[in-house]
Amino acid sequence: MTRETLPHFLHASGRTFGKEEEQLVLEALRSGCLSKTGGSLVKRLEREFAAMLDLPFAVACSSGTAAVHLCISALHLEPGDEIIVPPITDIGTILPILWQNAVPVFADVEPLTMTLDPKDVSRKITSKTRAIIAVHLAGQMCEMESLRKIADERKVALIEDCSQAYWAEYKGKLAGTIGDMACFSLQQSKHVTCGEGGLLVTRNQEFAQTAGLFADKAWPRDINSLGSGRFLFLAQNYRMSELQGAVALAQIRKVEKIVARRRHSADSLSCLLTNLTAVSAPHIPAHTKHSYWLYMLHVTQPENGTHTQKIGDALAEQGVPAWVRYIADPLYLSPLFTQPATYGTSGYPFREYGAQKFERGLCPQAEAALDSVIAIHWNENLNSDHVKDIAAAIQLAAKQ
Ligand SMILES: Cc1ncc(COP(=O)(O)O)c(C=O)c1O
Repeated sequence: MTRETLPHFLHASGRTFGKEEEQLVLEALRSGCLSKTGGSLVKRLEREFAAMLDLPFAVACSSGTAAVHLCISALHLEPGDEIIVPPITDIGTILPILWQNAVPVFADVEPLTMTLDPKDVSRKITSKTRAIIAVHLAGQMCEMESLRKIADERKVALIEDCSQAYWAEYKGKLAGTIGDMACFSLQQSKHVTCGEGGLLVTRNQEFAQTAGLFADKAWPRDINSLGSGRFLFLAQNYRMSELQGAVALAQIRKVEKIVARRRHSADSLSCLLTNLTAVSAPHIPAHTKHSYWLYMLHVTQPENGTHTQKIGDALAEQGVPAWVRYIADPLYLSPLFTQPATYGTSGYPFREYGAQKFERGLCPQAEAALDSVIAIHWNENLNSDHVKDIAAAIQLAAKQ
């Protein structure tokens, strides 16, 4: 098997662009207006995406990282406020916290799903905690009932980061519908994409209004015509363009089918792996439905990661694209935190407000979990032959 034979998210083979995207891009071009301010496509995207999740509000923006920032902007944080995050995620979950002069506080993850461990979240809450960001990793939802309960009892916001988990489910509820706000990424590798882009959804009108303003320089356009120069608060330009909106609109209309196809092929692979002992299929709690951004293969005896690396190397040799460990280390071991490399040499906000020491041992379950995982890139265009090839490659690799 060669890498070219498997559909990949960086090629047309692994994406679902077609006539629908072409038509809407043409519509945008022919309208003569490529900015959301004068156009209709980004606004349609917002309306349709919110309706698909049965929520009243959505705000589109320029990236998933921007969408996290929009959620955080709606909380009107004070410098030094804390937000609880998992250490296994994309750094885009965390960067906006620092840009708001707030402090990310890492809570450990559950060993098998690598999503936030509610018990550790409870331990990490302080009087300064303002929110918990529940990252649904690889398509697996967090233990949302417990997190919702903690957030309500402690009166902090619950933000769902659904960038990797379009249409995943928890007890019949879609990802993005349980938190106070949720964000999605439309970056190239995601279930649906417009190259770069993001979406926030919420049922809270005030959050939606603040986020909408934050994405647009806090410029109240309804009452404030061009040049009148009344800007309401410190904000960003995170606007999505009409070209991105056109592609994203066509893409979100396909999301349900894309997730169904990913689920079907991933389930087939899991069936083909049942008699292996060296590796096992992703752990999926019975009350959740995975949406398979990645297929998290678990190595039974990781030997501090060395065995995992060998199996990963053997998979790579056979052309199966995968990230051994998903990310090299928990994010708190990045120089951003360990130096810290933030605002010049100030160490702000950690030196002023931080309580955690960013060193090995901070989240032991996360550290151990990464040793045992190989994140196979999953794709809606994998057919049954591809799945059989991947299973055969795993069987061979598992003999390492
Ligand atoms: C969980 C998670 N959050 C946030 C982001 C940031 O999204 P973007 O890359 O679109 O800024 C990503 C992207 O990979 C992600 O996977």
